[in-house]
Amino acid sequence: MKKVLITGITGFVGSHLAELLLEEKNFEIVGTARHRSNQENINHLRNKITIFSADILDSHSLYELVKKVKPEYIFHLAAQSFVPASWTSPATTMEVNVLGSVHLFEAVRGLNIDPVIQIACSSEQYGLVKPAELPVKETNPFRPLSPYAVSKAAMDLLGYQYFKSYGMRIIRTRAFNHTGPRRAEAFVCSNFAKQLVEIKKGLRDPIIKVGNLEAKRDFTDVRDVVRAYLLSVEKCDPGEDYVIASGKTYQISDVLEKLIKIVGIKVKIEKDPDRMRPSDVPILHGDNTKFSKKTGWKPKIPFEKTLADIVDYWEERL
Ligand code: GDD
Repeated sequence: MKKVLITGITGFVGSHLAELLLEEKNFEIVGTARHRSNQENINHLRNKITIFSADILDSHSLYELVKKVKPEYIFHLAAQSFVPASWTSPATTMEVNVLGSVHLFEAVRGLNIDPVIQIACSSEQYGLVKPAELPVKETNPFRPLSPYAVSKAAMDLLGYQYFKSYGMRIIRTRAFNHTGPRRAEAFVCSNFAKQLVEIKKGLRDPIIKVGNLEAKRDFTDVRDVVRAYLLSVEKCDPGEDYVIASGKTYQISDVLEKLIKIVGIKVKIEKDPDRMRPSDVPILHGDNTKFSKKTGWKPKIPFEKTLADIVDYWEERL
């Protein structure tokens, strides 16, 4: 049995990763959760995993946890992950995403252990990509357009620096947008699906509120992304960066259309100025060649199935 530590196990991606590792059967899974955090996403896994109360902002609690667990793999997923929240709370975003990562790296370094550490960097770091620079590769420049993007770029660079300075086995995965059941309702696919199901069930007027429908995003199912994260610690080179993307990009208006079709209702679309961002990344379209060559990974789940599963998730909950 390999000992695995997942920071942020109660989150959307953390819960899917824990499910995958349990299916694989040769992992002993420990996760961190903040005191009083919502643990709904992992309730069904409770008796198969160990949850420790720890906050990545509290270096002491993190150090003690890493000391106790001595993991062979660490998946660092705990983060402030919602881009708009990074404008309302830029300092918190920096603290959690940058300082939290420093605390984790320092805990590992201080304990003199040598786990493989996957850190969940983001395509958002690339920010403004010029048309001639598409599809986005690992070598594209960072032109971040949100405090969130800056925080993830900083974490990414820290990962590189800790590898170079101390030889820590850090793998930097840059996942493009990923979604699926259990995605928090703030994020676009989940948000639209929830509103549409509410309309279908007569819980709201047939008006769907939207933000920027012009943006284009490269979506992958979360279950494919966690498979990629596992492959990354098993097969990738420490210190390296890897784009994890399906290579399939959709305009957000098309995502909305697909969801409306799946739910099967007629709605009025209304722009909500509060959903617009001070600056939004216009297009993300990734090139996964480096990662696929290294690991053999290919996304398996078609986007239409992902969207249908999100709709089912909300149908069951509402
Ligand atoms: N959330 C939201 N709500 N987004 C909307 C809406 C809406 O009502 N209407 C349009 N959008 C647009 C956003 O402006 C953005 O262009 C796109 O839909 C996707 O928004 P999100 O789902 O909030 O994701 P994101 O692209 O900002 O960030 C996600 O992907 C990153 C990887 O690129 C997050 O999962 C990040 O944590 C992740 O790093």
